[in-house]
Amino acid sequence: MLPTVDWTADGVVMIDQRKLPGAEVYVTCRTAAEVAKAIKTMVIRGAPAIGVAAAMGLALGMKKSRATGTVKFAAEFQKACDLMASTRPTAVNLFWAIDRMKRCFGAAARAGASADEIKVRLEAEARAIHDEDVAACRAIGRFGGELVPERARILTHCNAGALATAGYGTALGVIRGAVELGRQVSVFADETRPFLQGARLTAWELTHDGIDTTVITDNMAATFMRQGLIDLVVVGADRIAANGDVANKVGTYGVAVLAREHGIPFYVAAPSSTLDLATPSGAEIPIEERPEREVTHVGTTRLTPAAAKIRNPAFDVTPARFVTAIVTERGVWRAPYEESLRQATA
Ligand code: MRU
Repeated sequence: MLPTVDWTADGVVMIDQRKLPGAEVYVTCRTAAEVAKAIKTMVIRGAPAIGVAAAMGLALGMKKSRATGTVKFAAEFQKACDLMASTRPTAVNLFWAIDRMKRCFGAAARAGASADEIKVRLEAEARAIHDEDVAACRAIGRFGGELVPERARILTHCNAGALATAGYGTALGVIRGAVELGRQVSVFADETRPFLQGARLTAWELTHDGIDTTVITDNMAATFMRQGLIDLVVVGADRIAANGDVANKVGTYGVAVLAREHGIPFYVAAPSSTLDLATPSGAEIPIEERPEREVTHVGTTRLTPAAAKIRNPAFDVTPARFVTAIVTERGVWRAPYEESLRQATA
């Protein structure tokens, strides 16, 4: 399986996803601030992977802390949590992981643990978050794989693969799960402007696994659907609200509307850490606006005239009514999502 993020004696190691597929470069983050920067600048990306990296970043930051008194140690931890929380606003897994690390810290502190003992517990918690994410993705693959018919031609958007998680992937986990069930599948990977997660990362991962992969530009999906070349869509999610509205990479909403028009099932695959039942609907999900340069440039080449205004919302919201089912590590959930997602988290 492809390595995404790892805890090592030197620090938190991650493959630099900005450089793929041209180069496989590993980056070692040696402080919490370096991990936060890696998340913000998309060295590592994808909601579950962001959560895992943040947890490891917090454990790393505290491991390196020289604070002796518990008050100073706790203040440093809070500061590191705030820094992580400021990196990317849409992926709820980030906040879920920070909360979990805070609960771990709080429980240890209340039990009278020393700073050294808290360091050990935070590291164990971060490693557990990593391992649980891999297990969740594998379970998503088992449930989701069953939804994929033999010889299915599958469209996916962005990268919800091993690179976007601790391993195996969510949407790509469903595809891998289908392959493990012996189904012959082929995948259409939307290129996913502007950061090209589909063209660069999904295509890299799937071809690495020997899965038949065709990259298309985002504006080709409609025509392939009308030609009857797509049997199902599966995507990941950055946050799923209590009513089943799904925030995912910008462009997902358009794919969902197209799938409905063409009678194609539209599945969302995500671990429970992506379910945000405290947010009633997609209208309340914060949407990250990323730097203009991602739109104005490809690599070092400028595409747009300097005078043009630019927008770069990184995510959109797909209303629940377009979602055929949501696959989590606990099963396959269907409308009405207010009820089924409560069961999914009970
Ligand atoms: O901006 P990114 O690359 O972090 O966006 C990633 C996505 O939109 C993924 O589909 C989502 O995080 C799910 S990853 C399993």
